[in-house]
This record gives sequence, structure tokens and C-alpha cells, in this order.
Amino acid sequence: MKKITILNASIVNEGKIQAGDVWIRNGRIEAIGSDLSGKPADIQIDAKGAALLPGMIDDHVHFREPGLTYKGDIHSESRAAVAGGITSYMDMPNTKPPTLSAERVAEKCAIASRASFANYAFYLGTSNGNIEEIKAVNPQTICGIKVFMGASTGNMLMDDPTALEMLFLHAPTLIAAHCEDTPAILKNERRFFLKFGNDIPMSAHSLIRTDAACYQSASLAVSLAKSTGARLHLLHLSSAAEMDLLTDAPLEKKRITAEVCVHHLFFSDADYAAKGARIKCNPAIKTDRDREALHSAILSGKIDVIATDHAPHTLAEKQAPYLRAPSGMPLVQHALPSLFEHYHAGRYSLPLIAEKTAHAPARLYQIPERGFIREGYWADLVLVNLHQALDVTDETALYKCKWTPFSGMRFSSTIKATIVSGHLAYLDGRLDSTPAGKRLAFCRS
Ligand code: DOR
Ligand code: ZN
Repeated sequence: MKKITILNASIVNEGKIQAGDVWIRNGRIEAIGSDLSGKPADIQIDAKGAALLPGMIDDHVHFREPGLTYKGDIHSESRAAVAGGITSYMDMPNTKPPTLSAERVAEKCAIASRASFANYAFYLGTSNGNIEEIKAVNPQTICGIKVFMGASTGNMLMDDPTALEMLFLHAPTLIAAHCEDTPAILKNERRFFLKFGNDIPMSAHSLIRTDAACYQSASLAVSLAKSTGARLHLLHLSSAAEMDLLTDAPLEKKRITAEVCVHHLFFSDADYAAKGARIKCNPAIKTDRDREALHSAILSGKIDVIATDHAPHTLAEKQAPYLRAPSGMPLVQHALPSLFEHYHAGRYSLPLIAEKTAHAPARLYQIPERGFIREGYWADLVLVNLHQALDVTDETALYKCKWTPFSGMRFSSTIKATIVSGHLAYLDGRLDSTPAGKRLAFCRS
């Protein structure tokens, strides 16, 4: 393994920003100091003027493998992820076939061990009929158990109340929940269909997949977690209403934690006019007021982690009319640059971004020796040029689907380098050709 020194960086870690050097050897951060230029190194990176953060740990992606690889695969999407400063990801089970057993998780791990540029872990999915698989799973081998308490891409809705209760009673590790009330959504959809037929405008999405539908389902998840004692992680919260379900207690004290995703922090329903199906996703992007409430909840500590919900579909699929256009958008390459826009706007500090994208996911999922810039830890790092503009285009998107919802925008920050488990995966626009991601470990009893 190559030895790397990073010199003169602004190191953003654990609430502080300090000038310094980092020396990497055998995949680990061997030393952090003020003059490490004399350390033996195969690669020296001059980081003057750049910020060094722990690489993003994205707890929510859909890389589509197996079965939906025409949309994306582990190789293509993890490559895009490292170009975007994401060093670890957790992949969702709505693949083909769905990931409903430990064997399916093992199959995905085998693919990732050959193809993944970033560190990886996989969720076990749920259905109304796989409770025995859930009970038997070893919590060290999966990042969590994903439940669709609202229907979305893939047929994975879990709506049998008895099966849901069994899941909350018996899940041996964290339950990550997609919450949207499907009966309420179908009712709204019917109303819009009667009015518009097949020409429902994209801007209706947040009026069909409403904040009330989100709140209804999230409160059911919260009450199940409270009555059973289950460990619940609420995924991609998107509305002001849902913030009432959360507390700002320290992360380690919470049994119910929450995630928001970069697109809900960036776009609002005003963007449907220009972006159309490109920003159609579940849960829907809602009003400016909802977006503001999400920002406030990040600042107050009600929201614990920021993720992507990277969910690629082809542009041809997206061109279908509202009812047939699939939900989801590709995000991993541009997620961090989009978050740094909130830094430039004066909303977020750099340490807050490190906290919500790296420290908190490492703590929340109990991932040892990652998510922080500490001596002895794995070297998972992202170096950012905060003042180098990035013009986002579909042509420069590395996703297999070759488009991005941010196309046509100019961001203020560029990812300069990404180091994954001590391997220089990306530098100055060039991707290394070796997929060097490692399987994430989980330190759970
Ligand atoms: O917008 C979404 N896309 N939401 C989901 O729940 C699933 C995802 C996908 O897999 O396409
Ligand atoms: Zn998702």
C-alpha cells in the first residue's frame, strides 16, 4: 500500500478546524502533525488552501445491483461516489431480486469486494413474510434492516400490521424506515387522475405525496418503536410536520434517530417547473417552509445525519408522464458540493458538515475506526477546494444514467481528492482504476 502525505491542509474534525499535515501508511492515519513533510511517502499532496474532512459515510444509496444494472451498478455508482468525496456507503435492498435474506446480502458483498471503489455495507430488506430471516441475521453483517412503510420503487411495501409489529419486536439491530402512508397517497393520486387524466403536472407530486402522508406513517413508526423498544432510524424526512416527532437529545441517548437527504435541503416545490421529473422522488420535495424546517432541525440536533438517497433511473424512464415516471435521482457525485453551498450561504459550518456526513453516521451505525480524522483510524478522507467553481453538467456526470438534477448549476466548491481506506481513489479529476473499497464492520453485540 502506498504511503501518502497530505501537507498544509485545513483539517476539519470534531468541532475544530486546524492547519496541519496527515501521514497515511498501511491504509491508516499514521500521524497528524504540524510538519510531516519528512515522512517517507510515495505520494505527496499539497493541500494548501483546501479543507480536509473525514470522507462522507452515506447511509442511503440505491446502486441497483443485482438486476437493475441498466440504471447503475456497484462499479459505476461507487466510482461516482468517490469522485464526490463519499468514502463509504450503505446500499438499499430494492434490487432484483430484493435483498430479503442473508444469502442475498452475501451475494452483494461478493460483487462489491471485486467492484466497489468505496467502502460498503448492505441493508437486509423486509417483506410481510421474512421475519425468520430477520430474527436470524447477525447484526455485525448488515448495516441495518430496511422497511418500506410506504410504497416506492420496487414492490417492497410492508403493510401487514401484524408483520410490522413482529418486525419492531424482533429486529436484532437498527430498523431504517421509509415512512409515507400509501392509502392516503393513493387517494390523492386518484383525485388528481380524475382532474388531469394522464397529464398530471410534476408539480402535483408534493400534493399527492403530502406532508400529512409522511407524518401519519412516521408517527406510526415512532409509536411502534416506543411500544417495542426497537431502535428506529427515520429515513429521508422531508417536512416540517415530521420534526415534531424528534428530540434534540445527544445521539447516543436516542433510540429514534433521523436522516435528511441533500436534495430535500437544496430544492423546493418551486423547482418542479424547471426540473420536472428530474426532481420527482419519494418522499416528495416539498415547500420552502418544509426545507427551512429541515435546515433548522440539522442545526438544533433533531436531525442526526445527512445522506443522499442516490436513486438513479434513466432519462428515458424519467420522460414518461407523471404516473409512470419513476421516483429518485442520482446524487452521490454532487452531494458534498451541494452541501458546501449551504456553507457558502452562511448556514452550515464546516465542522457541522463533517458531523452530519461522517462522525454521526459512524457513531449511529457503530462503525469502528472510521468517520473521524484520528491517528490509528482508517484513512477515509476528502479534500475540498472550497473556492474552485464546479460547473455541473450531464456530460460530466459519472453515473451510468448520465444525468444529474444539478445540471446547469455552478457550485462554489470542487472535490480535489478522495482517499478510501488509505488508497488514493481520486485526485484532481482523475479516478484510480482499482476498486479498493472494504466491507464496513459494525461493532455490535
Ligand atoms: O425516490 C425514491 N427512489 N424513493 C425511494 O424510496 C426509492 C428510490 C428508488 O429506489 O428509486
Ligand atoms: Zn431510498
